[in-house]
Amino acid sequence: MDSRISLLCFLVLAFSLLHCARSDGNDAQLLKGINSYRSSLKVPALTENKNAACLAEQLAKQFKGQQCTNTTGANTVIGTEQQFPDYPKYLDHCHLNASVTEDGQVMPACVPGLVPGVVLTNYTKSQYNRFLNDSQFSGVGIANEGDWVVVVLSTSTGSGDYSPATPGSNWAAPVQPFSLMILLLVGSVVLLMK
Ligand SMILES: *[C@@H]1O[C@H](CO)[C@@H](O)[C@H](O)[C@H]1NC(C)=O
Ligand SMILES: *[C@@H]1O[C@H](CO)[C@@H](O)[C@H](O)[C@H]1NC(C)=O
Ligand SMILES: *[C@@H]1O[C@H](CO)[C@@H](O)[C@H](O)[C@H]1NC(C)=O
Ligand SMILES: *[C@@H]1O[C@H](CO)[C@@H](O)[C@H](O)[C@H]1NC(C)=O
Repeated sequence: MDSRISLLCFLVLAFSLLHCARSDGNDAQLLKGINSYRSSLKVPALTENKNAACLAEQLAKQFKGQQCTNTTGANTVIGTEQQFPDYPKYLDHCHLNASVTEDGQVMPACVPGLVPGVVLTNYTKSQYNRFLNDSQFSGVGIANEGDWVVVVLSTSTGSGDYSPATPGSNWAAPVQPFSLMILLLVGSVVLLMK
């Protein structure tokens, strides 16, 4: 019994780390590509914006499972982008409100297998390049789920900086590692009680 529980804990830990490492790696690589594109245009690099990343994650989860077609992601005709009825909920979840995101830019892309080079050109060589080359944007949040990657750009002005709506909402960020820790703690307690 003991060994089964510790095996379970180990597996949970291993999978979480594996998952983090995988998605962080892809996202970091894309950010690097975007920033070298910007530096080739002499536009300042984008820095990571945690709240934009939170929104990107919420949106990526909605796209996940949808097929890539020639009308999705980077191929979407501007103005016909998919609208999510739950968008206000995602903002809430990330402690954002519409007034701090209005100048931001949400850019989903769909690439089977998320092949890094193809993902990058979906941003640099598509309709999105007019946002990527824009010095008005200074921050970025990236998330991927399935074949989808969502890049959210933020500005350094109040109407696009993705700053949290209420003080103290920065607490949201560490929730995930915390729940993992609690799981491990509970696991250890169960082990000790045996
Ligand atoms: C998308 O692909 C379909 C067939 O797969 C084609 O009929 C259609 O014209 C394409 N649309 C665009 C915008 O390329
Ligand atoms: C974006 O990725 C798709 C694959 O999903 C590819 O067919 C398309 O050519 C790419 N677009 C650009 C501009 O690289
Ligand atoms: C950014 O891209 C747009 C559209 O491709 C172009 O019209 C504009 O001149 C570019 N701006 C810079 C600073 O490269
Ligand atoms: C968003 O938050 C700002 C500052 O906290 C506030 O002034 C504004 O009224 C809020 N907007 C909405 C739509 O809730």
